[in-house]
Amino acid sequence: MTQQQMTQQEQFDHHSDECNADPVAYYAAYREGCPVGRTSAHGGFVYTTRYADVARIARDDEAFSSSREATGMDGVAIVIPSGPGLEQYPIELDPPRATGYRDLINPLLTPAAVERLRPMIARHAARAVDAFIELGSADFVRDLTNPVPAAVTLDWLGFPEEDWARLAGPVHDIFAAPAGSERAQRGAEGLAYMERRIRELIRDRRAEPAEDAVSALVGARDEHGEPFGEDELVSVIGLLIAGGVDTTTSLTGSTLVHLSRNPEQRRRLIDSPDLLDRATEEFLRAFAPSQSMARTALDDVEIGGCPVKAGERVLIPWVAANHDPAVFPEPEEIRLDRDASRHLSFGIGSHRCAGAHLARAMFREMMTQVLTRLPDFRVLEDGLVGYPTNGNQKGWDAIPAVFTPGPRATGTSVAASPLGAAYDLTVTRAEPAADGVLALTLARPDGAETPEWEPGAHLELRLPSGRVRQYSLCGDPDDRTRYRIAVLREPDGRGGSEEVHALAREGVTFGVRGPRNHFPLVDAPSYLFLAGGIGVTPILAMVRAAAARGADFRVVYGGRTRATMAFLDELAALAGDRLRVLPQDEAGVPDLKAILAEAGPDAAVYCCGPTGMIAAAEGVCDELGIRPRLHVERFTGDDSLEVAFDPALNTEFDVHLARTGATLRVPADRRLIEVVQEAVPGLSYDCEKGYCGACETRVLAGEPEHRDSLLTEEERAAGKTMMICVGRCTSSRLVLDL
Ligand code: HEM
Ligand code: FES
Repeated sequence: MTQQQMTQQEQFDHHSDECNADPVAYYAAYREGCPVGRTSAHGGFVYTTRYADVARIARDDEAFSSSREATGMDGVAIVIPSGPGLEQYPIELDPPRATGYRDLINPLLTPAAVERLRPMIARHAARAVDAFIELGSADFVRDLTNPVPAAVTLDWLGFPEEDWARLAGPVHDIFAAPAGSERAQRGAEGLAYMERRIRELIRDRRAEPAEDAVSALVGARDEHGEPFGEDELVSVIGLLIAGGVDTTTSLTGSTLVHLSRNPEQRRRLIDSPDLLDRATEEFLRAFAPSQSMARTALDDVEIGGCPVKAGERVLIPWVAANHDPAVFPEPEEIRLDRDASRHLSFGIGSHRCAGAHLARAMFREMMTQVLTRLPDFRVLEDGLVGYPTNGNQKGWDAIPAVFTPGPRATGTSVAASPLGAAYDLTVTRAEPAADGVLALTLARPDGAETPEWEPGAHLELRLPSGRVRQYSLCGDPDDRTRYRIAVLREPDGRGGSEEVHALAREGVTFGVRGPRNHFPLVDAPSYLFLAGGIGVTPILAMVRAAAARGADFRVVYGGRTRATMAFLDELAALAGDRLRVLPQDEAGVPDLKAILAEAGPDAAVYCCGPTGMIAAAEGVCDELGIRPRLHVERFTGDDSLEVAFDPALNTEFDVHLARTGATLRVPADRRLIEVVQEAVPGLSYDCEKGYCGACETRVLAGEPEHRDSLLTEEERAAGKTMMICVGRCTSSRLVLDL
């Protein structure tokens, strides 16, 4: 691109009243008129508005620094304007200095580590709601969204209970109080107290380690085998508290306000709790707790074709990137089922949020408490108080609300999830049901009855790695001694099904939640059941029920080949000549139009199968005008990868981890990240699809095969870094800086 002159946009100010009132519209106007510009506000800086520019700057830490040194100032380097505050590691350092601190905290915040914290998080969320549920009113910020993340973060770190309230307040005050106010002063004093308490806790845990995160931090060693110094640890722990508390407070508060204003979306989340995980990414995208951050240019560079000089400050507004129509169509609309996972609310690249998994877990538990225990809450709009400026950190200072009072939960056995509390089930039988399909029979270890269920229900399986997967029940609901599920091994998936196949043996116990039913069998004069591949599982339970009721039904079951189609005999015994079996190698692609056209005028159509099949069924039903009669089952927690992974196209190679000293073989049917994880348990990753940058790793030797959607052509050609969640290697040996 030819370099243009950068336009001077004197009036741009992300802290202005206009931006505070509607940041999405404010940034949109600049994105359309002058996407990169220079303003003299706050000492002068360059602002950006496009996703591509924001992502590129955040990822390019050689050209754009996060450090105080680069700003030549003493204050916080990563926001505009810079303010006072303790220097925080690693967020205010650049690689390679940042890397050591990142390596220090990553193991504490992996998905598996966060999964272990779930009961503690659920307890804090339930306890907070208990404190006000009988009253029928609350200030959500004071009573829920501020105290819960604070209690969780501080409990996890190892602070005693008496510190939780004393430390939660100051972090919130810092963001919520107008600069120079008495409250800001109180916040600053609170932070001094926090630093003192952090130092005391470090010393206590050095003397006597406990089972908490600070003990893990003081016990860790740096790359030279030395323990980290007290000041370093104070900085890291200070960041974990500051990063953990107010951001999650803000996300939850903004979501509660939105759901109060949009009751139909709240109803959808209450009716379909599985939607919450997907919707969480959309809420993150739309509300972006951290609205903007900043970097300092280290060299003369260009941004989107405009020249920027070394030393200039550059604003990277995550919220503007999240609303760039080039990436998110109709960005101003909040759609619960949008795939918003490319949002930049957790940043991108080497500083991508280390606490993303913990943030999601805290948000989920708080939202679940509200949606299940205060489902009719109404926010009192008149009493809403926002932050004085949302330019950097957006949030609410007061969210008064009313709701129908309810009972306190007794003890800690509260159902902290719409699926109910987690419990254990033991595998009593594991047997192949078809090629690549494992059927598991599960029973309560104490011999107690399994909870009731109806056809269409699914069980949530919690795997030791922290992965959570849903499987339809396909046994007999009248048999209360056991459940049956079937799991298709997906070697090209995200690893959940592989994990089940590797682990599930007679006697193995899994944590589960549920069953829960979003796919219930409605009463209808007749039924058409469409099953594709492993989608047969809920259909099998439905056919059994329909046959027992003497209902009028037909079943069409498609698959790749007969050998891959589970439960064929069982289905044939139930359905007899009402079953049509259509293996693709014998019958070709099923003619859905003809099949659906034959369904009687009142038939309810149930469809479960691969995404493509569901989409095709929806299309045909639209055409035939029978869409309201179509019921489909889609799992949000499925195992699919965005990037195709076909072992037949992969080659084997060795990966040598230079810092760890290990050499490992990566076979064609395993992903690089899985193999590396065996030697480096605290690896940083998030999306596992090659677009968030959390797993970007330096390549020291070998030829990486890039399969991500993040690196530019030049970066790929340079071969210096790669996304190890999807990437592989075309040479026989890859050496990584791990
Ligand atoms: C919804 C909640 C959260 C949001 C929106 C959020 C947002 C962010 C963002 C945008 C960054 C990138 C900073 C940059 O590029 O300069 C970041 C980094 C970070 N966050 Fe979060 N965060 C959240 C929750 C948490 C939690 C719960 C923790 C930990 C307890 C945490 C710890 C951190 C740390 C340690 C970093 C620095 C990582 C590094 O510099 O390598 N965050 N966060
Ligand atoms: S984990 Fe997101 S790019 Fe690899």
